[in-house]
Amino acid sequence: MSAVKIKRDVYYIGVSDPDIRTFDIIMKTANGTTYNAYLVKTTQGVIILDTVKEEFSQEFFENIESVCRYEEIKYIVMHHLEPDHSGALLELTKKAPQAKVFISPMAGPMIKAITGKEDIEFENVWTNKELKLGDKTLKFLSTPNLHWPETMSSYLVEEKVLFSGDVFGSHYFDSRVFNDLVGDFEYAFKYYYEHIMRPFKSDVINAIKLYEKLDIDIVATLHGPVLRKNPHEYIELYKKWSTKTDRLHGKKIVSIFYVTSYKNTKDMAERIYDGLESSETLIANIYDLMALDEQNMLSILEESTGIIIGTPTINSDAPKPVWDLLSCMMLLEKKGKIGACFGSFGWSGEAVDMIQARLKALKFRVPLEPQKIKLVPTKMELNESYNFGVEFGEIVNGKMMEMTL
Ligand code: FEO
Repeated sequence: MSAVKIKRDVYYIGVSDPDIRTFDIIMKTANGTTYNAYLVKTTQGVIILDTVKEEFSQEFFENIESVCRYEEIKYIVMHHLEPDHSGALLELTKKAPQAKVFISPMAGPMIKAITGKEDIEFENVWTNKELKLGDKTLKFLSTPNLHWPETMSSYLVEEKVLFSGDVFGSHYFDSRVFNDLVGDFEYAFKYYYEHIMRPFKSDVINAIKLYEKLDIDIVATLHGPVLRKNPHEYIELYKKWSTKTDRLHGKKIVSIFYVTSYKNTKDMAERIYDGLESSETLIANIYDLMALDEQNMLSILEESTGIIIGTPTINSDAPKPVWDLLSCMMLLEKKGKIGACFGSFGWSGEAVDMIQARLKALKFRVPLEPQKIKLVPTKMELNESYNFGVEFGEIVNGKMMEMTL
């Protein structure tokens, strides 16, 4: 595909990867993807915005050459340094050695490691900084964690183009480039959000606060269609998906997930549930992990402030459904979540401690020592399970206590 003019003086110089079927290990890409990059012409030179995956460099450089000479390039803006966008950066700096590179402050320690060039020159930019070149003004916007710590966006004032980075992207190849010309990519847009942006909802909301101040004609993303028709609809979708609703009128949800071999961990789970239910300001849920699929796990985990996991120990480990539950957390925001663990065991009981450690590693608050019971819980031990639920519920309700770190 060749360079495509998307606005006056603004060109799409990205490349297509129609045959890729898995991206970043976790994403399926049934329609392939694109690595988008852009070129802005000004009366005093050219700005390149992002590059492409290294193996597509030749096509990328041909696109640049069809629009300008390398000597005209004054600046290179890197919104994101993941290799699918920085793969041609080193070569570009060789072809246009006079060009200054702009990156966010968080990208500084990464850029040398990614390009392998020790003496690469760059300047840090952030919100309120701007680049004036000839008749064009590019305003920088700090949008960290979307989806790497160093990600940023920028806005071309005169042409009203938002260069959003990965935000609003889709893994969806269609050579027609623009959202009003390509096929139906709605599912790809949502899938991308759920796998890339969903763990960073607070950061999405912060970015949208910056975007909402702008008069935007086009959203130029790093993957998939360029959003020129109704770009605000896409911004609104991100806002809707990232805004916490209060459908429970202030009540918090605590969800218990368990697996059980001989009903012992299940009996504990049910008493913990009773303890939680003694609070009128909580909604307690209880789930047998053997009957829960991943999509349901994700929804429940996302809604729950408190997450309590019950597991037996089998061959010195927790059973696979428990680890599957925890691996889902990769796709979710963990901020503000509180965790706890329990389980019945036969002789060693390591699983509960392993899950407790995993919750801490995921940055959950884990204020209670886990409740471990040998084999069949006694009546007294089940009373302790009840109290465990009551105490956990009080913590979720805001009771201050010394935290187990
Ligand atoms: Fe498209 Fe996060 O790289």
